[in-house]
Amino acid sequence: IKKIGVLTSGGDAPGMNAAIRAVVRTAIYNNLEVAGVKQGYEGLITGNFVALQSHDVSNIIQRGGTILCSARSQEFRTEEGRKKAHEQMIANNIDALVVIGGDGTFSGARIFSQEYEIPIVGIPGTIDNDLYGTDYTIGYDTAINTVIEAVDKIRDTASAHNRLFFIEVMGRDAGFIALRSGIATGAEAILIPEKETHADELQKYLEKEYKEHKTSGIVIVAEGDKSGGAYTIAKEIGKQHPEYDIRVSILGHMQRGGSPSAFDRVTASTLGVAAVDALLDDQKSIMVGIVNGEVTHVPFNKTIKNKKKVKESLVNINDILSI
Ligand code: F6P
Repeated sequence: IKKIGVLTSGGDAPGMNAAIRAVVRTAIYNNLEVAGVKQGYEGLITGNFVALQSHDVSNIIQRGGTILCSARSQEFRTEEGRKKAHEQMIANNIDALVVIGGDGTFSGARIFSQEYEIPIVGIPGTIDNDLYGTDYTIGYDTAINTVIEAVDKIRDTASAHNRLFFIEVMGRDAGFIALRSGIATGAEAILIPEKETHADELQKYLEKEYKEHKTSGIVIVAEGDKSGGAYTIAKEIGKQHPEYDIRVSILGHMQRGGSPSAFDRVTASTLGVAAVDALLDDQKSIMVGIVNGEVTHVPFNKTIKNKKKVKESLVNINDILSI
């Protein structure tokens, strides 16, 4: 391997820049050239490359977003699109890739790597934390901290008015962000797709606790929860309890922005180094992750096919502490 390409794909996440920096500098340290690929797989197809030197990644470790930009490429899902991407790699002498993103990014990488025998290593970058084979994904910690800052503020106004808030957080079809931020904000209830909570269960709980003893109520709703989202569940509860003063807040894309936390910066730096080391070690078609503080190498097949579970112990903690 003489030259590697690095790209960010799918939803951006805070810490992606720190990962790019680590990949570029580790590659240069090992006398490799680096091409930054703009806009994820779109840029691979169109040949949107920029040569990256060490100074090009100065002053980015603290910045949210991604300097390489990101996209969810439809064309890369097609054989034709991947053929064009391969031609661009050959024309630009790119021998291997580091792809930073989530399961969609790795699905594309796995097929591409099989079709053209290209060494590809993935770095888990998504606020959702929903990747099997790593305890943490880059961006998750920052997103949770963004959520708790917002929820703490909502709690102030909720208690001033004795209101019940339903706050929807991101996470696609997983409840990691909701569960952890719900515990951290002392939410009265947390609704996640991994655990079915029926409206009547929630209603009973609110009847018993919120109505009697509390000056405010916060229900964190994961966007993928089966209740249909914060507006739907709030409407249902409001119908049964017109006496509750209910408000809804959807936090949205603010959860993806902002300066990465120390934890995300260190995770991104560790995984960026590990990704280039893995390529130099002739590894192909794997994701680098962190399990129990140690770097792991997980085949794309495994991380794509398996579903990461939420920690039961955290669900129990919330059940005990929300009373
Ligand atoms: O995967 C990250 C994520 O922010 C999810 O939590 C969310 O469901 C989705 O991306 C939103 O995607 P978009 O930015 O395309 O609306």
